[in-house]
Amino acid sequence: MMEHLLSVDDLGGRAGIESMLDLTDSFLEVTQRDIPKVPALRGKTVVSLFYEDSTRTRLSFETAAKRLSADTMTFSVSTSSVNKGESLLDTVQTIDAMGVDSIVVRHPAAGAPHRVASWTSARVINAGDGCHEHPTQALLDAFTLRRHRGPSLDGCRIAIVGDVRHSRVARSNVMAFHALGCELTLVGPPTLMPERLDGWPVAVTPDLDHVLPDVDVVYLLRIQRERIGQALFPSLREYAARWGLTVERAARCKPDTLVMHPGPMNRGIEIAGEVADSARSLVTEQVGNGVAVRMAVLWSLLGSGGPIV
Ligand code: NCD
Repeated sequence: MMEHLLSVDDLGGRAGIESMLDLTDSFLEVTQRDIPKVPALRGKTVVSLFYEDSTRTRLSFETAAKRLSADTMTFSVSTSSVNKGESLLDTVQTIDAMGVDSIVVRHPAAGAPHRVASWTSARVINAGDGCHEHPTQALLDAFTLRRHRGPSLDGCRIAIVGDVRHSRVARSNVMAFHALGCELTLVGPPTLMPERLDGWPVAVTPDLDHVLPDVDVVYLLRIQRERIGQALFPSLREYAARWGLTVERAARCKPDTLVMHPGPMNRGIEIAGEVADSARSLVTEQVGNGVAVRMAVLWSLLGSGGPIV
């Protein structure tokens, strides 16, 4: 039984991930009803505690909680100060004193949700911690891909392209896609690869044009300009020219190669606008599936285990 969702590791390997994806199927059905709401979490309170800007992740969690009939509260925290160790503890103790059931945490420091989990009796969900992990993004991506290439993703070839070094999405997605049997290649400038890749179940290359014709999925990452301290590549223009998924590059992919991006997208940098809006792009479907995935996660952590009506 999962206590918190802080890392993809908490899901319990392939079987645990697959059962969460199966559960998501049931919640996707709920979201497609005329009245997309079930009483499953009536009386429960879910708090979102976001120390970083977010559009889709916060809205997605709040929509998911409301569709399960939970009460929601939002703490909008200024993103201007950096060292918030002390005030994070105070805030969590205050929230905890109100008797909430779940805290959804986004924080610029890796490990912050783990600290929060040690300070509260509520169930904690990591909604992105620094350059570390973003497990619900990995689940929604796996769910989206499974709907197109599933039920088994064994042998599915995925290129994850761009700023892997600063990407919590890349870390969580490598873990989840690998657990599901995918073959992964990281592509990008060596300066945007993690310093150490020991133990990562991936191939690595700087040459996007070489891998494109062979892959089933091109998963593009946003250049994390807010986390890049010094110049790690010559210019955004140069980056787009070598690693951007342009219209010409997309045309060299197999006809059924799919394009994914967690958003927010830098159109014209890592992905051309035309490619993002093309038939191969799953970008808006990823966002839509995010709600059903988060319903499944909240229900797993907070539900009574009874049937979903
Ligand atoms: C990602 C994030 O915030 O980690 N976005 C998201 O949750 N959809 C990716 C990003 O910011 O590039």
